Amino acid sequence: VIGKLGIIGAGSVGATVAVAVAARGAARTIVLHDVDGPRAEAEAEDLQHGTPFIGPVAVHGSADPRDLAGCDMLLLAAGRKQRPGQSRLELAADNVALCRQALPVALEQAPDAVVLVVTNPVDVVTYVADQLAGLPPGRVFGSGTVLDTARLRVLLAHELGLAAPSVHASIVGEHGDSELALWSSATAGGAPLQWWLAEAGWAGDRLDHLLNRVRGAAGHIIGGKGATSTAIGFSSARIIEAVGHDERAVLNVSTAHDIEGVGPVCLSLPTIVGRHGAGPVVDVPLDDAETAALRHSAATIRAALDAIPSSLAP
Ligand SMILES: NC(=O)c1ccc[n+]([C@@H]2O[C@H](COP(=O)([O-])OP(=O)(O)OC[C@H]3O[C@@H](n4cnc5c(N)ncnc54)[C@H](O)[C@@H]3O)[C@@H](O)[C@H]2O)c1
Repeated sequence: VIGKLGIIGAGSVGATVAVAVAARGAARTIVLHDVDGPRAEAEAEDLQHGTPFIGPVAVHGSADPRDLAGCDMLLLAAGRKQRPGQSRLELAADNVALCRQALPVALEQAPDAVVLVVTNPVDVVTYVADQLAGLPPGRVFGSGTVLDTARLRVLLAHELGLAAPSVHASIVGEHGDSELALWSSATAGGAPLQWWLAEAGWAGDRLDHLLNRVRGAAGHIIGGKGATSTAIGFSSARIIEAVGHDERAVLNVSTAHDIEGVGPVCLSLPTIVGRHGAGPVVDVPLDDAETAALRHSAATIRAALDAIPSSLAP
């Protein structure tokens, strides 16, 4: 269990992470920190009033970074979100600037914290946060494609008529439009996905269609309710739990990699998550198409990093 969790940004995402963490008993104390103090206080108060129904957790909200002192884990969820039709990468310059301002202040209060970045574009912001913090590899990492992987498992499970926990299929690469599915290693109920496809007589483009639905899920939800928050809340809580329990759970989180022909980027691969953060990755075999798609995804992230104004570049 995490002793003290600091959530930077008490908007839709930060507040929902707090609810999910409290409900799962993943932290003993949660501090919601936001430049908008009244909002942080209100979210904390609202959650606190629900704690008699879920278990003992202390919740505190404020705009004072000193309240983050001694946090074992920090979660960065502050920043601009996509407007309908906008790509995550369009948020890069603004949210990188925010990260450069907010993260050092928080780390000054909690220098030993494991840092989980959720702010979008998560791979770009994680890269900058990692460079800025200068902590041991994996102490700063991003939520990456943990959420996208959950989306794929839910969609695939529905198609196969199975429960999502019985379906194992990964989304890797960018948390964004260039992400890819590792179909070649996907399994359901212990049988390779290829066996299920043959059994069901699926057409070849059915998997492409599923991947496109995963890629389009955030846009679809933002079109309807203005933001995504519930599933990112639960996926972040799952990651926090893996750190708090030193689980060595394999999750598709975003960490630094040097990709051949592209250079250094943060992107998601199946990665071991435990007390000290994320790493090493599990070297899942990729087929040729997956290797090419991963390189393309890395190049997309690298281009977004290269486009950051030099005054903000890491
Ligand atoms: N990685 C993912 O899978 C994922 C999923 C959903 C949303 N997101 C991202 O999470 C971020 C937050 O989204 P949201 O819907 O909660 O937005 P929101 O507008 O509801 O909340 C953002 C909050 O950040 C606060 N803030 C701004 N600057 C701050 C600072 N310097 N210090 C502390 N707080 C500050 C604002 O006051 C606001 O309360 C966005 O970048 C969004 O794209 C990521």
